[in-house]
Amino acid sequence: MAFYSDEVIEEVRASNDIIDVISRYVTLQRKGNSYFGLCPFHREKTPSFSATPDKQIYHCFGCGLGGNVIHFIMKVENISFKEAIEFLAERANITLPVSNYDIGMSQDELKKREANKAEMYEINKIAGRFFYDNIEKSKVAQEYILKRKIDKKTVAKYGLGFALDDNGLTKLLQSKGFKEENILGTGLVGKTEKGYMYDKFKNRFMFPIFDVRKRLIAFGGRTLESSEVMKANGIPKYVNSPENLIYSKGRHLYGLNVAKSSNEKMKRLLVVEGYMDVISPHQAGITNVVASLGTALTEQQGRLIRQYANEVVLSYDSDAAGQKAMQRGIEIMQSLGVPTRILKMEGAKDPDEYVLKYGPERFEKLVDNSISPAEYKIDLLKQEYNLSDTAEKITFLTKMAEVLSKVDNNIERDVYVDKYSTELNVGREAIIAEIEKRTIRSSYKNNKWQQPKPVVLNVDETADEKAKREREKMIIYLLTLQKKEIFEKLKDVYTEADIELSSNKGLIKRFYNLYESDDTANKDIMLICETDEEKSLVSEVMMKSNTRDDIDKFAAEIIRNIEVEKLQNEKREVLKRLQADDLTEDEKGLLGNKLQEIIIKLAKK
Ligand code: UTP
Ligand code: MN
Repeated sequence: MAFYSDEVIEEVRASNDIIDVISRYVTLQRKGNSYFGLCPFHREKTPSFSATPDKQIYHCFGCGLGGNVIHFIMKVENISFKEAIEFLAERANITLPVSNYDIGMSQDELKKREANKAEMYEINKIAGRFFYDNIEKSKVAQEYILKRKIDKKTVAKYGLGFALDDNGLTKLLQSKGFKEENILGTGLVGKTEKGYMYDKFKNRFMFPIFDVRKRLIAFGGRTLESSEVMKANGIPKYVNSPENLIYSKGRHLYGLNVAKSSNEKMKRLLVVEGYMDVISPHQAGITNVVASLGTALTEQQGRLIRQYANEVVLSYDSDAAGQKAMQRGIEIMQSLGVPTRILKMEGAKDPDEYVLKYGPERFEKLVDNSISPAEYKIDLLKQEYNLSDTAEKITFLTKMAEVLSKVDNNIERDVYVDKYSTELNVGREAIIAEIEKRTIRSSYKNNKWQQPKPVVLNVDETADEKAKREREKMIIYLLTLQKKEIFEKLKDVYTEADIELSSNKGLIKRFYNLYESDDTANKDIMLICETDEEKSLVSEVMMKSNTRDDIDKFAAEIIRNIEVEKLQNEKREVLKRLQADDLTEDEKGLLGNKLQEIIIKLAKK
């Protein structure tokens, strides 16, 4: 199960401050040593979700969920432990061994790979600069910039450039002494069988692609040929850098580096298809736009969006491919729980054209008027059926009810019922009845994100069980303190054999093993938890103890109580055995001595 080493996991955990990470999902407010906010895992009106920077854990006193930053990401992103490590490593710019092959890589090999990556970033940077400088040398490039109405400032801001029809870049890179492996690795340079190296981007207008950390990771190059020439000669409109050590297409969004404003979450982020659809709105003052670069959104891109924005507006071409990408985009964003709207493009082919034709204000209006996924789906259905035909209209209405039954906000649903009953001239009640038939069936089944997942605690327990549970909670509390002295005292009075609740056995044993075998002082003890219940318990006691400043005194008191309780149990046991009729005098004597011993011990406490 362990895929990454403890050291790697610890590095990733320690490099992601829990308050920083959680702030991307929850609005937190500071109160003393802790932060509070509305729990992202269950619906609530008053904040019972808390996190502490000093302990680096979170706990919700409402639904019981808790853990460290890795556990938080697992829950909120609905991903596995391994995926959470990858997610957080990416966030903190930590390179992980990426495949089983890499796991077997030696430290030297990993270092070498890091060095190669660094060199590839450097090569891209030099290339970016080179393409940018080429604009001055190329009349066609300058004319193209004029034609697309891109101003100088924008060219500089996005680092746009031009690849001339020669092998200038190859020569430049070779002269700088970069390793051939890395020059070829970027995909900027090709090599023939005879070993001749050449520029791969020729006569193309160049769009550099940056990651959120502003490293140049790839290029897209657009031909300047007319579409007729392109078609006739089979010239692709765009050529893009291949996937390589530093570039993975589905993990980045074009323009995000510009769109993200330092730390603050964007209220709304517009996702478009092409480079120019980011650049034109930006030039006109609309900066919250990114492009998924001609493919349907991937889940990683969806997560990236969620990290930086509260709401997403999707804008894809109205052609078949665009609409398919739209459907997929809606699915992904909804499964990630991000409010999603769809832009209806009218009077222009894409945002670039729209902004140039009608100006930014009208474009903003268009964005404001973007429709919900339900409306979008109903619009598509409307096109599919002939509504003047009664039979078709009925089929349409049932399909529409199906769509509306999945809208889980009642107010929103009411608005649609009103809207469509007027628009289609059908009674409200008829639509509502159709919806209700389905809501019972579908409920929220498809929406894991919205479902509270309370950690189940024993509800029907007896007073005795409750006392045991409280006692063991206290023991777990002592164990979370990470103080060897306290553990040494505890284990004298409380051994593994004393653990009473089976649900706590595994956890306490793991704690004991850890203390016996390791220095716990700087360990993330949250990581010994294996189940949600254990995480819940550990984070709860850690969060509560956050408010105490007399820890040693408190610990001593608990240990004393445990001891007293144990002695009292023993006393009761001895007394019970003394009641037996068939005891020999010797036995009576022994038990009597034992009783006295216990009483003396108790008196000393
Ligand atoms: P479009 O064909 O809509 O191009 O492709 P565009 O962005 O509007 O470009 P202009 O306005 O004609 O100059 C949308 C995006 O799909 C990717 C590119 O990222 C492009 O911006 N694409 C398209 C490719 O990667 N390769 C292609 O051959 C075509
Ligand atoms: Mn375009």
